[in-house]
Amino acid sequence: MRYRPIQSEVFILNRARLAKLLAPNSLAILNANDILPTNADGTLPLRQNSDLFYLSGIDQEETILLLYPDAHEETMREILFLRETNDLLAIWEGHKLTKEEARKRSGIKRVEWLSEFRPLFHRLMCEGDHVYLNSNEHKRAVIEVETRDARFVEQTQRRYPLHEYRRLAHLMHQLRAVKSELEIDLLRQACAITKAGFLRVCRFVEPGVTETEVEAEYAHEFIRSGGSFAYWPIIASGRNACVLHYIQNDQTCRKRELLLLDVASQYANYNADLTRTIPVGGRFNRRQRQVYQAVLRVLRGASEAATPGKLPKQWQKDAEALMEKELLELGLLKPSEIRKQDPDKPALKRYFMHGIGHPLGLDVHDVALTTEPIQAGWVLTVEPGIYLPEEGFAVRLENNIVVQEGGNLDLMADIPIEPDDIEAAMKGRHRGRP
Ligand code: GLY
Ligand code: MN
Ligand code: MN
Repeated sequence: MRYRPIQSEVFILNRARLAKLLAPNSLAILNANDILPTNADGTLPLRQNSDLFYLSGIDQEETILLLYPDAHEETMREILFLRETNDLLAIWEGHKLTKEEARKRSGIKRVEWLSEFRPLFHRLMCEGDHVYLNSNEHKRAVIEVETRDARFVEQTQRRYPLHEYRRLAHLMHQLRAVKSELEIDLLRQACAITKAGFLRVCRFVEPGVTETEVEAEYAHEFIRSGGSFAYWPIIASGRNACVLHYIQNDQTCRKRELLLLDVASQYANYNADLTRTIPVGGRFNRRQRQVYQAVLRVLRGASEAATPGKLPKQWQKDAEALMEKELLELGLLKPSEIRKQDPDKPALKRYFMHGIGHPLGLDVHDVALTTEPIQAGWVLTVEPGIYLPEEGFAVRLENNIVVQEGGNLDLMADIPIEPDDIEAAMKGRHRGRP
């Protein structure tokens, strides 16, 4: 494990919050993610199922969590099932969690080997009334492969066709959107590693470096700090920045260009999501600064506009109104265009075509009930941008905020964002390439 142990209170609290939402006499069962195959005998590293991690803190493959808060016997209320290790596994794959280690991490008293799952599960299925099973209900998810949870749903419904099944995902979205203080601490650590990476890159970037070399600087800083890329980094110089999901990162950065850096680290599975746009030569020119300041004003306005009780859709509209004003002032839009625009396809979309932000947490595009009002405790990204392919550049800025009553908290307030502060962070850069 590359992160320091997390207090089990995080997961104890999360389970207690879920228990309150379950119908009386219900079971809930969650499975680890599969280790995904690549080619030949290759695999990807395990990316734990976020819901299982949220409720247990266990980062190991094949784990199953069974919750039955109203179980008659107290020892049946929370059971964690683990892959049992053996000498051969220890030689090839190294250490696997002991029962005691899993107890300590999760705060779950009863830990069993997986071989115990079938009989115990059967017994509890004979006692419970409702069964909550998990599935990926992120509205943008495109799922071509069957997950462990999906296989479990199929097998369980086949074996126990007369039970009443319910969707756990709906409850998980509600819960996970509102972060506890302990979770916010983990997000702060992801932000701190992200900041260190960004400052390192500010000292590194100069005309002639490649986007690939910039990516390597981030990787060095993130990995040595116990983090890793939270998502594929976008390191886009000049016009590349107008491609929203540019991940090629293979071009050379030129003197008069801007470099868009949408790069962040995760820590303990909690993700930061940062975007900064910096001048390759160390100084913004007048036009770049003008557009940059416009985007920065929208970021500040939209950060304040994400208030508890507002629908995410309305927050998007508020941000678009701020952006429209800036685009008019920049002369990129004309009042006549606005007057005759189709309200479903506003003219500003030509320059700002994506969402103002999204929930952030154990997933980068985190789960939340986004048709419901924003609540205190939500962590959101705020990420306005202006994309000008005809002028060969784009500016996007992105910070992460905690929504609060009486004013939001910016988790990235200490990462340079004012143009003067970016230029200052780039002073004293290495001369000559390493
Ligand atoms: N880096 C992914 C995003 O900004 O949504
Ligand atoms: Mn981002
Ligand atoms: Mn984002």
